[in-house]
Amino acid sequence: MRIGIIGAGHIGATLARQFSRIGHDVVISNSRDPETLRGLVEELDGKVRAVTPAEAVAFGEVVVVSIPYGRYRELPTEGLQGKVVIDTCNYYPERDGRDPDLDSDATTSSEKIRDHLGGADLVKAFNSIYWENLRDRSRPKGDPERLAIPISGSDEEAKAVVAGLIRDIGFDPVDAGYLGPGGRKHQPGAKVYAAELTADELSALLRTG
Ligand SMILES: NC(=O)c1ccc[n+]([C@@H]2O[C@H](COP(=O)([O-])OP(=O)(O)OC[C@H]3O[C@@H](n4cnc5c(N)ncnc54)[C@H](OP(=O)(O)O)[C@@H]3O)[C@@H](O)[C@H]2O)c1
Repeated sequence: MRIGIIGAGHIGATLARQFSRIGHDVVISNSRDPETLRGLVEELDGKVRAVTPAEAVAFGEVVVVSIPYGRYRELPTEGLQGKVVIDTCNYYPERDGRDPDLDSDATTSSEKIRDHLGGADLVKAFNSIYWENLRDRSRPKGDPERLAIPISGSDEEAKAVVAGLIRDIGFDPVDAGYLGPGGRKHQPGAKVYAAELTADELSALLRTG
């Protein structure tokens, strides 16, 4: 699968490593010249190419957005219709600046990003796993240590694609529901946020709210 990643920090670079490891065709971008990602490209044995965010959008059948939430308005708005977009972003007011819509819980960070992206099929995923666990804790299916990753989204087909990617890199996806209500269950402050849980444990906790 062709995967375009926007954001080359802890999570973006770790996803690039994971997806390229299992044979996906991956490009990655940051907010600067792609040349600034030369070190990362070398670290990943040239399996990943550095591009601009617009090129990552054009390339990807799946596009990953993994930047500080406060910068989402800088994301490309063209070319995302019909693509599966994975949103790993979280809202941290001290880093991102205050957003009254989120402080009042009128909406969620993922819905605001989806709207900015022109209504792409957005799935919230990988926002609730610490990057070192994402890097180091892949396990085969059935392993009792295999960690679960909550996902939410309002497009079932897009969610199925993301669930498949999560399984293939060695984690269990657990569906938390539609983008707004589901996403609230695994955003910062939620019980399951950043918790290290198996699929059964995560499912049970999601049912309690
Ligand atoms: N760290 C974690 O364990 C973790 C876990 C789950 C979710 N998250 C969330 O996932 C998101 C990314 O986290 P992170 O820890 O990976 O962040 P990070 O290490 O600070 O990296 C952020 C990346 O975003 C890029 N970026 C910023 N604005 C951009 C733009 N307009 N266009 C393209 N790239 C842009 C930065 O590139 P430049 O350096 O060129 O600006 C940098 O590569 C955040 O919302 C975070 O809350 C983090």
